[in-house]
Amino acid sequence: MKRGFLLPVVAALAAATVASAEPAVTLTIQADQPGARISPTMWGIFFEDINYGADGGLYPERVKNRSFEFPNPLMGWRASGTDGGARAVTVCEDDPIGTRNRHYARITSVGIGTVTLANEGFFGMGVERGAEFTFSVYGRSPDAKPPTLEFELVGADGKRLASGSIKGFKTEWKQFEKTITASATDPKARLNLIVTGKGTLDLDLVSLYPKKTFKNHGLRPDMAQMLADLKPGFMRFPGGCIVEGHWLTNRYQWKTTIGPVAERKLIMNRWNDEFKHRPSPDYYQSFGLGFYEFFQLCEDIGCEPLPILNCGMACQFNSGELCPLDQLDPYIQDALDLIEFANGPVTSTWGAKRAAMGHPKPFNMKLLGIGNEQWLQQYIDRYTAFAKVLKAKHPEIKLVSSAGPGPDDDKFKFAWPKLRELNADIVDEHCYARPDWFLNNATRYDKYDRNGPKVFMGEYAAQSDKTVSVNNRNNWECALAEAAYMTGLERNADVVVMSSYAPLFGNVEGWQWRPNLIWCDNLRSYGTPNYYVQQLFSRNRGDRVLPVQLSGALPKEKDQPRFYATAARDDKSGEVILKVVNATAAPVETSVNLSGVTKPGRKATVTLLIGALADENSFESPRKVAPVTSTRDIAGPHFSYAFKPHSMTVLRVPAGK
Ligand code: AHR
Repeated sequence: MKRGFLLPVVAALAAATVASAEPAVTLTIQADQPGARISPTMWGIFFEDINYGADGGLYPERVKNRSFEFPNPLMGWRASGTDGGARAVTVCEDDPIGTRNRHYARITSVGIGTVTLANEGFFGMGVERGAEFTFSVYGRSPDAKPPTLEFELVGADGKRLASGSIKGFKTEWKQFEKTITASATDPKARLNLIVTGKGTLDLDLVSLYPKKTFKNHGLRPDMAQMLADLKPGFMRFPGGCIVEGHWLTNRYQWKTTIGPVAERKLIMNRWNDEFKHRPSPDYYQSFGLGFYEFFQLCEDIGCEPLPILNCGMACQFNSGELCPLDQLDPYIQDALDLIEFANGPVTSTWGAKRAAMGHPKPFNMKLLGIGNEQWLQQYIDRYTAFAKVLKAKHPEIKLVSSAGPGPDDDKFKFAWPKLRELNADIVDEHCYARPDWFLNNATRYDKYDRNGPKVFMGEYAAQSDKTVSVNNRNNWECALAEAAYMTGLERNADVVVMSSYAPLFGNVEGWQWRPNLIWCDNLRSYGTPNYYVQQLFSRNRGDRVLPVQLSGALPKEKDQPRFYATAARDDKSGEVILKVVNATAAPVETSVNLSGVTKPGRKATVTLLIGALADENSFESPRKVAPVTSTRDIAGPHFSYAFKPHSMTVLRVPAGK
């Protein structure tokens, strides 16, 4: 059934070229007719450990392969020295620090020189002058007079930036800790462990961890702040295809990601060898950033957690391995236990684990994703089994189901009627496509059934080249197309309740996929034009959709209307929030009518995001395309406004409560 009051206004417009200063377009906002409520979860974020988003990114551990658990246990480490060098270091597994952490390094020094074991970090180790780090290590020695462990942080040029030493090893494992301060900034430092003197040392879980973290909860401050600055309504985690794994054995299992880090079980990151053209042989998941930290981050940035769980299916782009339907119980139990971990009382089994980690209060999780990007009957069968149990035991939790990898392919067409029949809560749609697709599909949801399941546009990004191409760019053309599309999401807030751009982070030195919303290196991060589009929508969300009519002559490009508008009302401030995307190369002169408003405030806030289509942000010019805010006098409820070429504009006009 089509919705009545908001016909696809964009499509109804006539073609014309706008060259004169006379208003060619009339933009009427029915400020006194608030429509659908805009969900507080409308604009969110999608976190996946891809492109070194977690280890080597948001999780700021500087030591790679800190527990010697990579299949090549000395990957990332290099042994050298005058005392046997590489031969002085072996990897052992007898009597380890834990069953999930089976390997450790044994350094045997014969006492005629030194043995150095150096860790290269993730593309080096980023350190800033004056920054404090906790160096920690589990160690033991069988010797009555054990050797001393010296450690030093050295810059790329070999200069020592900090150092310390640890003595007092006993025959039992013990964790040692020292604080050091870096004397200079270096994005590519490394850590040396140096053993001098005769004897044997067993070392495990070697860590160099910054003291300063986001809200003191362990994550890299600049990257977490970028997320907070988006003011997201939710965060989906931990992915993405890493939920699924190539095979079920390396699927994401949340229970192995909580508790003391020494007990978290490392697995190979699914993106390690996914793309032959972007191999990442040292990409593993330490799970230092695990489910507890994800929930904590959601709380810290004020958004709803949306965990996604494996539903008994390995990635259908890979093995497509299935857990037989009659063996799904452990997967469903994982979901039930997760709800208890997030929301249960401290007296419950899993609630107690949450409390033991430092959060007795529930995280108040309301959303749960069943499977990532799954498709066809095998998914429907598994979703059905999950939904049956979860809906009976936890009707308060809204379940997110999958419509597959594309926005309109056969898998998508298969999924929707089935999910509708199953009365699914929220269906996750994905789309990676050329900018034109987004421009042409701003009216997509105008045609959706208003009574069926709600929509989560859970992964989308305009691709300047094509999906998984290394040539994709985060340019303004793509961001502008996304902005145009997002006007359609907001306008259809009665159907679309959540959306998120994907992927979120990309490390410039180690990405597998582009484009990404935020780029970082070891010390810096910057938002792309796409980031600022997301931010403008999110920070100007509004509470109720206001109907908008466009009339007059609009410019078209490629025979398609390319001028987009949506409006919302902010209940608290009483402002009308108008978002306009002019995706044409010409300015568009408009006459804006605030229908139903007699006396608007005298000043509107105008935020403009504009650039040349090829523009991108970078570390050198992080705000080349970034919002600029100004004020503008408003004469009354009718005023003229010229929307600049290739721009997104947000106008906030006080309209009374
Ligand atoms: O965002 C990158 C990948 O694209 C996700 O992991 C997957 O869900 C989709 O195919």
